Amino acid sequence: MKKIIIINGPNLNLLGQREDDIYGNDSLSDIKALCEKKGNEKSIKITFIQSNNEGEIINSLHTVEKNFDGLIINPAAFTHSSIAILDALRAINKPKIEIHLSNIYSREEYRKKSITSEGVHGLICGFGGNSYLLGIEAIAKLIYK
Ligand code: DQA
Repeated sequence: MKKIIIINGPNLNLLGQREDDIYGNDSLSDIKALCEKKGNEKSIKITFIQSNNEGEIINSLHTVEKNFDGLIINPAAFTHSSIAILDALRAINKPKIEIHLSNIYSREEYRKKSITSEGVHGLICGFGGNSYLLGIEAIAKLIYK
């Protein structure tokens, strides 16, 4: 069994209540349950966390190299601002994928730049909660190559 961590950034704890026209009706715990099911199918154990705090996200990224076979991150609004998260991602030599529920390239100008995606292997966005499941499919291919 391989192990990955899925890290969720600020305000994603409000999924299902927050701008549902953009982010859909599923709560983060609904998405977590779908990810665990997909992980089981792929023989991947999933640790799923959320934090509104940039430092906590960076501390979680520092655990990846030692404890996990790969990582999926939705940095939420930190995507567009955090060089510190980018630096932490760059320090990880494991498969790593950024995901977003919404298509950040079809939204406001300030969302069109992902600073953090410069530190990952690839980016999946625009498929709602399915972006997470596509992320697991993609990371499974990188981990079990
Ligand atoms: C998001 C997109 C970000 O621009 C936004 O700040 C979020 C969610 C997404 O999953 O679509 O909080 O990361």
